[in-house]
Amino acid sequence: MDETSLLKQLARSLMTGQPIAAADPLRPCWHLAPPVGLLNDPNGFIQHQGRYHLFYQWNPFACAHGAKFWGHWSSTDLLHWRHEPVALVPSEPYESHGCYSGSAVMQDNRIVLIYTGNVKYPDGSRTANQCLAIANERDEFDKLGPVLPLPAGYSGHVRDPKVWQHDGRWYMVLGAQDLQQQGKVILLVSDDLQQWHSRGDIAGSQLNGLGDFGYMWECPDLFELEGQDILICCPQGLPAEAERYLNTHQAGYFVGQLDYVQAHFPHGEFHELDLGFEFYAPQTTQAEDGRRLLFGWMGIPDQDELLQPTVAQGWIHTMTCPRELSYHDGQLYQRPARELQQLRGERRYWQGRADDAPLYTADSAELWLQCDGPFRLQLAQALSLEWNGTRLTLSRPHVRTAELEHRYWRGNLTELQILSDHSSVEIFINGGAAVMSARYFPQHKLSFDFTGDAQLNLQHWPLAMPVIE
Ligand code: FRU
Repeated sequence: MDETSLLKQLARSLMTGQPIAAADPLRPCWHLAPPVGLLNDPNGFIQHQGRYHLFYQWNPFACAHGAKFWGHWSSTDLLHWRHEPVALVPSEPYESHGCYSGSAVMQDNRIVLIYTGNVKYPDGSRTANQCLAIANERDEFDKLGPVLPLPAGYSGHVRDPKVWQHDGRWYMVLGAQDLQQQGKVILLVSDDLQQWHSRGDIAGSQLNGLGDFGYMWECPDLFELEGQDILICCPQGLPAEAERYLNTHQAGYFVGQLDYVQAHFPHGEFHELDLGFEFYAPQTTQAEDGRRLLFGWMGIPDQDELLQPTVAQGWIHTMTCPRELSYHDGQLYQRPARELQQLRGERRYWQGRADDAPLYTADSAELWLQCDGPFRLQLAQALSLEWNGTRLTLSRPHVRTAELEHRYWRGNLTELQILSDHSSVEIFINGGAAVMSARYFPQHKLSFDFTGDAQLNLQHWPLAMPVIE
């Protein structure tokens, strides 16, 4: 379909669906969600002249995956986001089956988007073009077309360019699958964003000491933090273990050192970025104040998505909260971006036995706690968190079977920070050393209900969006 027809269809979809989606009590109070249809990966996250831009994979026509558009929001404070003109519409033959994920850089004071033009053929095969688009004075994006066809030696699955600058040159990592069905990350280099030269695979299944490690790696991101190079990626096809890799696909990171000259990336073990039920395709940017910020998609491809109850209201999925990354003591930490503290209302403080804790209720809340022993926390009667002294277990009824399903963290629990919205929860463990994110679909108002003998130290804040003066 041409761009005008696609935009007319999009207008109709919004006019019909947006009032219904907006009235859904499960819609987040302060997390980003699509106005209608399906949202997946965060794309093109960047800050320029104080304003953050966050683009997103968007199917405005249905709650299923399809030929993706790029939606676009912007914000000066990471809290209040405004809609910007739709950035990319999949109207050209080189992106016929979607403007897939990618990133943004600044060139000559203009935002340039680098994304994947996804093309599927009737015989089931596919190809991928890495493409550019550049901002114009109306905050729309003019397409410059493909700059990189499918590289030799890979299946049609090559996508999700993340581009950054280093020593005056542009570098790109791409998620890929090679002809032996091994997931890989390819490094490329360019002097002008137009001509790209491959430096080969820098990480992947059967590389750098990894054995079989997935048939496809999606959404790579590579950046420096405290002198380390962190490679984020989403391997698909890792077999589930007793307490890890329990989602359909995983999102995690390796810590290493990228040798830009040799194009080698020796690295350590793979760590999951989030141990909850929904977290995938995260993307980071460096804010103008130097912080490394991350948004993730609070969803997982192919994980019973269409059974989520918001589908009946014509929308599905949300972003995570924006998170600040840091690296210390050999570990990556994620904390809610400090701006989120502005959502806090009046603080309540309580100390005592878990069984005696007051029942906090709110629409959306932040809870901070310390404990000296086992306890159980029930959220809105829909999700529970249990600490038994060695293991933290997050449980909820499965959307399809209604049987309880679980996710785990092990360690020495010192503190929890829980951010909860109408249909999501993000649990930051020990100052962000681990995180568990999940969607949940309560039929009751949010409440925090504690049981157990442990002594608790609790702080509680209702969360609400501050009014802009
Ligand atoms: C990850 C992903 C990407 C792709 C996009 C398509 O969720 O599969 O690899 O670019 O979603 O929407």
